[in-house]
Amino acid sequence: MARDFEAVGVVGLGTMGAGIAEVFARNGLRVVGVELDESGLVRARAHLEKSTSRAQARGKLSEEDAQALLGRIQLTSQLTDLADVDLVIEAVPERLELKTAIFAQVDKIVRPEVVLASNTSSLSVTELSVRTGRPSRVVGMHFFNPAPVQQLVELVRTVVTEQDVVDDVAAFARKLGKVPVVIGDRAGFIANALLFGYLNHAAKMFEERYASREDIDAAMRFGCGYPMGPLALLDLIGLDTAYEILMTMYNQSRNMMHVPTPVFKQMMTAGLLGRKSGRGFYTYDGPDSSKIVDDAHTPKPAGASEEQVRKVSTVGVVGTGTMATGIVEVLAKSGLDVVLRGRSAGKNDAALNALKRSLDKAVVRGRLTEEDRDAAFGRVHATTNFEEMAECDLVIEAVAEELDVKRAVFGTLDEVCKPGAILASTTSSLPVIECAAATSRPGDVIGLHFFNPAPVMKLVEVVSTISTAPDVAATARALCGTLNKHAVSCGDRAGFIVNALLFPYLNDAVKMLEAHYASADDIDAAMKTGCALPMGPFELLDVVGLDVSLAIEKTLYQEFRLAGYAPAPLLEHLVTAGRLGRKTGQGFRDYSSR
Ligand SMILES: NC(=O)c1ccc[n+]([C@@H]2O[C@H](COP(=O)([O-])OP(=O)(O)OC[C@H]3O[C@@H](n4cnc5c(N)ncnc54)[C@H](O)[C@@H]3O)[C@@H](O)[C@H]2O)c1
Repeated sequence: MARDFEAVGVVGLGTMGAGIAEVFARNGLRVVGVELDESGLVRARAHLEKSTSRAQARGKLSEEDAQALLGRIQLTSQLTDLADVDLVIEAVPERLELKTAIFAQVDKIVRPEVVLASNTSSLSVTELSVRTGRPSRVVGMHFFNPAPVQQLVELVRTVVTEQDVVDDVAAFARKLGKVPVVIGDRAGFIANALLFGYLNHAAKMFEERYASREDIDAAMRFGCGYPMGPLALLDLIGLDTAYEILMTMYNQSRNMMHVPTPVFKQMMTAGLLGRKSGRGFYTYDGPDSSKIVDDAHTPKPAGASEEQVRKVSTVGVVGTGTMATGIVEVLAKSGLDVVLRGRSAGKNDAALNALKRSLDKAVVRGRLTEEDRDAAFGRVHATTNFEEMAECDLVIEAVAEELDVKRAVFGTLDEVCKPGAILASTTSSLPVIECAAATSRPGDVIGLHFFNPAPVMKLVEVVSTISTAPDVAATARALCGTLNKHAVSCGDRAGFIVNALLFPYLNDAVKMLEAHYASADDIDAAMKTGCALPMGPFELLDVVGLDVSLAIEKTLYQEFRLAGYAPAPLLEHLVTAGRLGRKTGQGFRDYSSR
């Protein structure tokens, strides 16, 4: 007969435990919450009260229900108070000796049939289970942060877990309104194994001063639609917890991408643990607060920079493809005069037609008036002659992603453009300095990496080479402001911010699939419901195109030579077989019958 879980014990009521206790109590269960000592209990109570009053303020909980909820949670510092519960979940810090010691004690207190669950993010559940007298009734029940919000629960079974225990706990998770995914016992399970390499990489970028914390976070929010940037997420997770998870993953994987970047240890030693201590990568207005306050690293507001900017009123665009046409639309809609240079009259006509269609669509959708559409279209002048770019204040190159082609364009622009004109490349993977070196004015050359579709995507990566003049970078950022885009600044290396953070993670997902740890559907579901990402990795790879993804991964690997960046063989095989994703009807999934 299926188990009924009516009373539940939670050991450790920190970031996760308090949230988990709240989930249980919201569902009408009686909860016994155990903390280490009186100060832990005070913190736990404050955490629970804050969370329920936030739910009340948002109209999600009535005053009466909030009181009833809190009334269902008994707080204690005695493990013996767990004697009559039906399931115990531990959420103490991520240290094996601590967790095994707790399980060994709880094992002696609760009834033999009671299930013991660990909220561990990375430690071996098998290892925990064998320290009890009931290994077959021990599972991992990995909730995500914040537990009351995130739906995913990774249900970890070991080689000895009884099937009925797995079934009962899965049914229980569903009853709590969660989405359980049953998986085997491997460090990091699905979501963290994929997430933490990415988070570690972002912390490393910050540590190397490749980009500011604000720009790293904004890049992933505006470039990929992530709900939070990686550094803000690390602050939410807690840097000490993140460190332990990475270490456990590294000990199992020996993958250099899991070695915690040194900044973690430094911040932990200084007591900068993230939101829970009031300061991590960002500064908060108090412990356990989500409100970021200004500190010494907060950037000055736009326009407050001392750097002079150059005047930009006429912009040239070289190319007639998807990106070029999209960028022309963005420029013209923002009131700039545009000179579009294509290789033939036919290509120019096609680009102008595409522009017209897109502007018409904006009118139909009520986003643009007919008058503004006509004015925008009237600002665009198409030509096949580079000389007509002579008076442009800035020229954006958006031709094929081939170095020789781009270098030739920059050589020509250098000859025809007036002194002081800024020359920009939209390259997503080639070194911008190669374009700069093809000119006699490398200080005036910069990367402006727009995202596709340019009229929709908010992000632009502003890429300075070692030669780019500071006023050129300042002008590029100011231009992005005029275009209503969000600019982030970074240096000239493979992948810039977004692709460098995104593609190693996508590659890890392919390797996880290749290793038969989980299915593409489970991995996609885990990343969407556990981390609130807009698309799972396989969905995204199929949209981007597997050939494009493979090319980016190869570029990253060639630049950084990290073994973990080497493209997964499965991705190469799919490309060789012509399964390139949605565009060919087949990739990781089959779209032909849909
Ligand atoms: N932070 C996250 O985003 C996240 C997400 C999922 C899972 N986890 C996992 O959840 C677990 C807890 O992590 P956290 O981030 O909540 O840590 P935390 O530091 O915020 O909380 C741990 C709590 O355990 C208490 N504690 C320590 N020793 C205890 C003992 N002997 N008895 C009772 N309570 C004790 C501490 O006082 C503290 O309140 C870890 O295994 C972690 O890997 C964390």
